[in-house]
Amino acid sequence: MSERIDLAAFPHDFLWGTATAAYQIEGAVAEGGRSPSIWDTFSHTPGKVANGDTGDTACDHYHRWREDVGLMRRLGVNAYRLSVAWPRVVPDGRGAVNPAGLAFYDELVDALLEAGVTPSVTLYHWDLPQVLQDHGGWPERDTAFALADYASAVADRLGDRVTLWATLNEPSCSAWIGHLEGRMAPGWTDLTAAVRASYHLLLGHGLATEAIRAAAPAARVGIVNNLSTVHPATDRPEDGEAARRHDGHVNRWWLDPVHGRGFPADMVETYGVELPVLGGDLETIAAPLDWLGLNYYFPAYVAHDPGGPAPYVRSVRREGVPRTGMDWEIDADGIETLLLRLTEEYGARKIYVTENGSAFPDVVRPDGSIDDPERQDYLERHLAACAAAARKGAPLAGYFAWSLLDNFEWAYGYDKRFGLVHVDYRTQVRTIKGSGHRYADIVRVHRGRSHRAA
Ligand code: FCB
Repeated sequence: MSERIDLAAFPHDFLWGTATAAYQIEGAVAEGGRSPSIWDTFSHTPGKVANGDTGDTACDHYHRWREDVGLMRRLGVNAYRLSVAWPRVVPDGRGAVNPAGLAFYDELVDALLEAGVTPSVTLYHWDLPQVLQDHGGWPERDTAFALADYASAVADRLGDRVTLWATLNEPSCSAWIGHLEGRMAPGWTDLTAAVRASYHLLLGHGLATEAIRAAAPAARVGIVNNLSTVHPATDRPEDGEAARRHDGHVNRWWLDPVHGRGFPADMVETYGVELPVLGGDLETIAAPLDWLGLNYYFPAYVAHDPGGPAPYVRSVRREGVPRTGMDWEIDADGIETLLLRLTEEYGARKIYVTENGSAFPDVVRPDGSIDDPERQDYLERHLAACAAAARKGAPLAGYFAWSLLDNFEWAYGYDKRFGLVHVDYRTQVRTIKGSGHRYADIVRVHRGRSHRAA
């Protein structure tokens, strides 16, 4: 029902895209001079990823990228958010650039442009070269400078054709899930390391922003955060406080410093970890941004949990509400609330929804087709909420559906399918799902309208 999506709320040059990330789709982990990343190490550690799955082959996009660009043509999208694999481009983490690594993305970018698809490049989507982890990883300051060097090399090569750049994808997951909860690479459970990692990720973001702009003056640089609306599980005051801390942990900690507000004092106190601030860092972190990326999946309901690690909050699972196959609650209003919050509270001048989507167990029919009404419904509801936010003044410039393809869903392995396109991992056959066809229809209607208006 595109009737329920107010497509006229989106600007005529709206970017309609899909998103992926290198480690989740590329495979070919030992080809073209690529070195191992922390995700190779993590996924090969028994017990870390469901079914022992790894990204060794994934969607074999490294070899099948031409076909995947062809899929984008068939969907009629005009944008694609990809991430560059740091260990392909700078296998030693820092220093020599690997020509074969850059050549892969160079060719891909050319093919995208030829297909009328605007590339948006994310530099860091979690695949830190293992060699940098061996030197301490994100808890160490040097890693931030290594990110900037790598960013400079990529921008130098692609910056004549790519204008949309993101430094980091979801640094909150890298820091908190990777270093505090241990459910993602590098799999640590150390609050001090996690806070230091969060700081150096944001410092790296600021340094990389400068490096990209120096190498590619036309670049428009942003950062991609996954944000949640946060609700107290009950009206008890301690749960209200827990909600405030959770909002600090997942939202404000990542938004305030890049907007020149410094790190939220209440959270610095909650963590009780001294930040490794050196003179000038906070200004570097607050380099003005051209756009903000919002990844939105689910709302949070939280309760006070004095026994847990900082920030002493536990998530509460609400009964009787719709959920995806990830067990994530579905709440499309959340994306509208967050778009408006970025607009009103943080003064965002341009926002892209850089990820939004859902996993459900797909059934392949005997004729090979895949009907996925639940994913389609999720997509439509969230697009309708995006349009509502745009009507209310959110400067929304594009929407990137997660994901183009079913892919390696981190610790969940291949069981969770987010694609608009189904992947048969035995044969690598790609099949556009019902939701993909629906997305193509929506895009066609809006782009047709925009062309007529133009
Ligand atoms: C986000 C990640 C992305 C994907 C989706 C489902 O947190 O950025 O790589 O795994 O979740």
